[in-house]
Amino acid sequence: MDFNDVETLGDLVRNPWDVGILFTLRSKGSLRYTELGAELTAWSGRRPSDSALTRSLKRLDHHGLVTIDEDGSDRPRYMITPPGTRRVDQLGRVIGALHRTSARPSTQRTVPAAHVTMAPRQRSAASCPDSASAAVAQRPMSQPVTILPDSTTPGATAQTSLRSGQDRESNVVAPTGIDTSKAHPARRYDYWLGGKDNFAADRAAGDAIAAAFPTVRLACLENRAFLKRAVEFVVRDCGIRQILDIGTGIPTSPNTHEIAQAIDPSSKVVYVDNDPIVLTHARALLVSASPGSTAYIDADVRSPDRILNDPQLRQTLDFREPIALMMIAVLHFIPDAELPVRQLVQALPTGSYVAVTHVATDLVNPEVAAKLEAASQGSGIDTYGRDRSQVAGFFQGLELIEPGVVPITEWRDERSEPRPDPYDIGIWGAVGRLL
Ligand SMILES: C[S@@+](CC[C@H](N)C(=O)[O-])C[C@H]1O[C@@H](n2cnc3c(N)ncnc32)[C@H](O)[C@@H]1O
Repeated sequence: MDFNDVETLGDLVRNPWDVGILFTLRSKGSLRYTELGAELTAWSGRRPSDSALTRSLKRLDHHGLVTIDEDGSDRPRYMITPPGTRRVDQLGRVIGALHRTSARPSTQRTVPAAHVTMAPRQRSAASCPDSASAAVAQRPMSQPVTILPDSTTPGATAQTSLRSGQDRESNVVAPTGIDTSKAHPARRYDYWLGGKDNFAADRAAGDAIAAAFPTVRLACLENRAFLKRAVEFVVRDCGIRQILDIGTGIPTSPNTHEIAQAIDPSSKVVYVDNDPIVLTHARALLVSASPGSTAYIDADVRSPDRILNDPQLRQTLDFREPIALMMIAVLHFIPDAELPVRQLVQALPTGSYVAVTHVATDLVNPEVAAKLEAASQGSGIDTYGRDRSQVAGFFQGLELIEPGVVPITEWRDERSEPRPDPYDIGIWGAVGRLL
């Protein structure tokens, strides 16, 4: 943590409602005054007085962190500005840094962060959603957030019950069987997203990529946002109720099943990942309200037969009905010779969907690409960026859903504020339908 971060934290915690407003608007988009008050009340358990709320809004407006959209009616909507978003992300970084610092009781309760888990964990060409960097993944805002590692985080139980080694810097206990000496994609992504399930090697690898590609964290957040939009699209607009999510990652709210089941509680999701740390979180991923269900398979995407014949997969998903296959920020870890896309797609019934995001080699400036390449090689995590036509190749034989293979921020994204530059994100995304 550097002095700028400390200053930022100092600025933000002076007035908890300022922090709450920023996180709320970051998470919920534009809100009217009464909606904002209701969100803050639900989040904090206390109703802000009108004068406190008005003062905070004025202060944030004065500092350019929040703006007002008059929208022609007499009830303005409040929105976070790009500098406000950056401020929230900075706070996420501070929280991440504090997670990695020894516990300081005096700071334990101060920040009501809507909980930025730095996850949107990162982003760019050689980088990724896993390579790239992270984003501030927002967890549910129903409870005040402590700065220190909290027991409400999915997987916390698994971590503490599987002791084997402790990360000196972060106080995070490594589950048995996890080699913390080498960086791993899921944990590096977690670092970028501001999570706490990462170790020194993951942070070093993540920092090296971030040095070459400073917007990697934003890229990770945008990747998470694409995932959410894609799941909402297939469930809400296409009637899909079964999802196979390969390359799950460490749980980050909202997880795929939470997005799908918020639309239809009967949705079923099978998660697949090959990282042992994701396995330790499987319990959290398996929490699904009836009538929906979830399952977790510990498998490598390079073994599609193993995945497709897994009894849990067959018990959970009905292959006579359409399925959405999600491979979000995972295929760039797989060399060409081992790509499993064709086999997986062939196993799906007609009317199924395939969603992919992928680190782009052609959405990155050449000088950044060279630095990324060097950082990536030193990280121990092999990354195989691909260009737009290669990503389009994954959809051969499928009908590409409009707008096709595009920078992820341009895929059915209806946000009103300006979108990040595609070169700051460096990820292609698309959804296709099996005819
Ligand atoms: C960047 S994270 C993406 C997580 C999530 N899909 C998202 O977009 O937020 C990549 C995930 O893919 C997993 N992964 C990498 N290589 C894999 C492989 N060969 N088989 C299965 N999972 C893999 C990693 O463990 C990690 O959890």
